[in-house]
Amino acid sequence: MAAATGPVVDADYLKDIDKARRRLRALIYAKQCAPIMLRLAWHDAGTYDAKTRTGGPNGSIRGRNELSHAANSGLNTAIDFCEIVKSRHPRITYADLYQAGNIICSTCSFTLAGVVAVEITGGPTVDFVPGRKDIRDSPEEGRLPNPTQGPSHLRDVFYRMGLSDRDIVALSGGHTLGRAHAERSGFEGPWTKEPFKFDNSYFVELTKGESQGLLKLPTDKALMEDPKFRELVLLYAKDEEAFFEDYALSHKKLSELGFSSAAWTKLRALLWLQHLKALLGFTRRAK
Ligand code: HEM
Repeated sequence: MAAATGPVVDADYLKDIDKARRRLRALIYAKQCAPIMLRLAWHDAGTYDAKTRTGGPNGSIRGRNELSHAANSGLNTAIDFCEIVKSRHPRITYADLYQAGNIICSTCSFTLAGVVAVEITGGPTVDFVPGRKDIRDSPEEGRLPNPTQGPSHLRDVFYRMGLSDRDIVALSGGHTLGRAHAERSGFEGPWTKEPFKFDNSYFVELTKGESQGLLKLPTDKALMEDPKFRELVLLYAKDEEAFFEDYALSHKKLSELGFSSAAWTKLRALLWLQHLKALLGFTRRAK
């Protein structure tokens, strides 16, 4: 692996992220590209191997080699959209730009790409920690799940990343958005009746079995075949809040695979302190 260069996450970097977030929101809205932006974030992160600590959310998907992997067919569109934002905010790493979520602290509230896609379509807010390094080297092809397989394959792939059964089911709920395209994957159609709305309808449809015009990949059906997975599908189908809560946690885990947030924790503490000092100063002046 080539040496990675990490960004310096300081107050200016955070301001840049805030501006990029606003640009992404406008772009995702104008281009109606929330589903493919979410898929980009997932495919960049979903190559992680916890044993070798390779792959993961590091922006390597932008390289010609990784982008040409069969599973990534069509994602060049999302890469090009992100490039528009990157050209205006060159300091932000590709890895941060593709993942992006929500940073909540006393002085700021930021949201970027992968999760702007979830948020803008009505989904939960995902906590976002900035500072991912960009890496150029691609992992070998075949790390992302094969849609024609069953429960044990899903476990092999997600456990390799260090994720759990709950993560598998919650994250599969990403298919509440978007559709498959025959020319890209060989599959066709949306999973839900409203593919631009992030809700629990993916799970509701799974419990109903086959529905005309709606897609169920073998890996989607696998969630109803396995008793542990099925229990969660049934829960999410009847309780959207439970799905949103679990999805937000699992998405955060996915977007932080192999990434240490220690520097961010320190910066967040500093920002809190600054904010507190400003607040105390204001209270004293007001007296
Ligand atoms: C569990 C294993 C998974 C498999 C086997 C799988 C497979 C697929 C396939 C075959 C497509 C259709 C691609 C096309 O033809 O354009 C697709 C689309 C999509 N996937 Fe997944 N996926 C999985 C998990 C996920 C996860 C975890 C997320 C996000 C959290 C996600 C988000 C999406 C989205 C949003 C689309 C629609 C993209 C668009 O409309 O262009 N998928 N997936």
